[in-house]
Amino acid sequence: MIPYLGTLTLLCLLPLGLPYPLIKGRPNDTGSNLFPVNPPSLNVTGLADACNGEGFDAVTLDDQGVMHYFRGDFVWAGFHGPAQRINETWKHLHGPIDAAFRNHNKNKPLEHQRTYIFQGSNVFCYFEGSLLAGFPRPISQEFPGVPGNLDSAVECHSGECKADSAIFFKGDTVYIYSPQEVPPVKQRQWAAVGNCTAAVRWLERYYCFNGINFTRFNPVSGEVLSARPLDTRDYFVRCPGRGHGHNVRQNATLMAIKNRCSGQSFEAFSSDDKGRMYAFRGGWYFRTDDNKDGWHPWPLSHTWRDLHGAVDAAFSWENKMYFIQGSQVVIYLSDQIYIPVLGYPKPLIDELGVTEIDAAFTCPHSSELYVIRDNELRMVDLQQSPRSPARERTISHSQVDSAMCNFNGLFIFQGPLFYHYKDVEELVSSTEPPKPGNIAERFLDCLS
Ligand SMILES: *[C@@H]1O[C@H](CO)[C@@H](O)[C@H](O)[C@H]1NC(C)=O
Ligand SMILES: *[C@@H]1O[C@H](CO)[C@@H](O)[C@H](O)[C@H]1NC(C)=O
Ligand SMILES: *[C@@H]1O[C@H](CO)[C@@H](O)[C@H](O)[C@H]1NC(C)=O
Ligand SMILES: *[C@@H]1O[C@H](CO)[C@@H](O)[C@H](O)[C@H]1NC(C)=O
Ligand SMILES: *[C@@H]1O[C@H](CO)[C@@H](O)[C@H](O)[C@H]1NC(C)=O
Ligand SMILES: *[C@@H]1O[C@H](CO)[C@@H](O)[C@H](O)[C@H]1NC(C)=O
Repeated sequence: MIPYLGTLTLLCLLPLGLPYPLIKGRPNDTGSNLFPVNPPSLNVTGLADACNGEGFDAVTLDDQGVMHYFRGDFVWAGFHGPAQRINETWKHLHGPIDAAFRNHNKNKPLEHQRTYIFQGSNVFCYFEGSLLAGFPRPISQEFPGVPGNLDSAVECHSGECKADSAIFFKGDTVYIYSPQEVPPVKQRQWAAVGNCTAAVRWLERYYCFNGINFTRFNPVSGEVLSARPLDTRDYFVRCPGRGHGHNVRQNATLMAIKNRCSGQSFEAFSSDDKGRMYAFRGGWYFRTDDNKDGWHPWPLSHTWRDLHGAVDAAFSWENKMYFIQGSQVVIYLSDQIYIPVLGYPKPLIDELGVTEIDAAFTCPHSSELYVIRDNELRMVDLQQSPRSPARERTISHSQVDSAMCNFNGLFIFQGPLFYHYKDVEELVSSTEPPKPGNIAERFLDCLS
């Protein structure tokens, strides 16, 4: 695997207007010992300093996609800002805590997205700002086989690990908790990772913190994926005078590209066979199917090794993602990570039998690729060899930026707007476009 961290420019990518309020109260959800949730109020800036190099006891996202950094009796919510006392946002909890993670298990709706916080021999469980009934309770009851006095914990998603599971660190021992497997708890020694004082999964990547340093690791093998330990203050927390590229002045063009709500057009939209959906603009992309970790623009090479610059079109077929850039095409295998297919880039004309396109899409479980150029739609059968376009049809759009077809239908993207059709037939039979929708609102959670 590739140590992408070398090019990770997290801080300049974090204009975090957090998409949600910190806490959403739902007082009667959870049993007897709960209070209505107050907004966080205590300003204790200066009482605890996130930037002083001491590191954190635990780091986790909550169910709203907000990152929490715990140290001592304090917690910082979001990627910057003042500390609060832990009990202001996490009821009945007083620091220091040992470990925390946001559970992932869609098959267990009552545990999915719950935040588990560990302290001594007990575990607390929170959802929507409330401590759930029956908590705190002994770790040995909730996670049989997992010891107390943990150092750190992180959830692992099915697909990234063999099954939805949790990884606990204590000293030099790793406990992998996966109740559906036999045995449910496996012990490992991950010498390369070392002892983790905090751990977090963020945007499909796994991080171990050791004091103020962190490394990225593979949650299955324990392999370290970053070239060297990096300083948390340059990536995860915003500290005065620090930060990857803190002195780079952002220009307005780049800011409009990276601001998902700027209304600027996207060059491509595509989903893959794993249901991941992406919007591409100016060499950057957004994940649009899942914003549980917040919204972030990423450079293409963060996910697709060696891919840079604008893409004209993108589509998926048989677990492969195709990118068209000018007269070239590159292909990546869509596994948990994307792996470049050897021998590419290749000329578009050799691969698909076309020379230039504005947009391209496949529909789920179909080998029919549709390419759009000006107001012409052509079909390329991907199973044929050599491939060549057939069936030229005229559509009622002439300046298409991008197109995407999924289980919700067919979307044509133009500037800040999109047009929704049931299927290709409806697109070619329409003499005028339907009423448009706003891309930023529909796909990127922006307010009108
Ligand atoms: C919460 O309280 C409201 C109003 O008292 C009630 O309508 C609702 O059913 C309750 N929800 C739950 C989950 O108990
Ligand atoms: C917190 O207090 C400091 C010092 O009194 C003040 O400068 C700062 O604006 C306050 N922050 C908030 C979020 O109220
Ligand atoms: C949190 O704890 C502090 C000090 O222990 C206490 O003064 C404060 O009232 C508590 N706040 C809440 C909301 O429980
Ligand atoms: C890691 O944990 C082990 C076992 O608790 C301990 O002996 C060792 O000193 C720790 N290593 C560091 C670098 O703290
Ligand atoms: C953090 O990493 C730097 C170099 O990458 C190293 O010099 C330092 O000792 C590390 N600190 C800790 C607490 O591991
Ligand atoms: C501003 O950013 C755009 C997009 O990355 C880039 O093409 C352009 O060269 C930048 N302009 C300056 C003055 O840095």
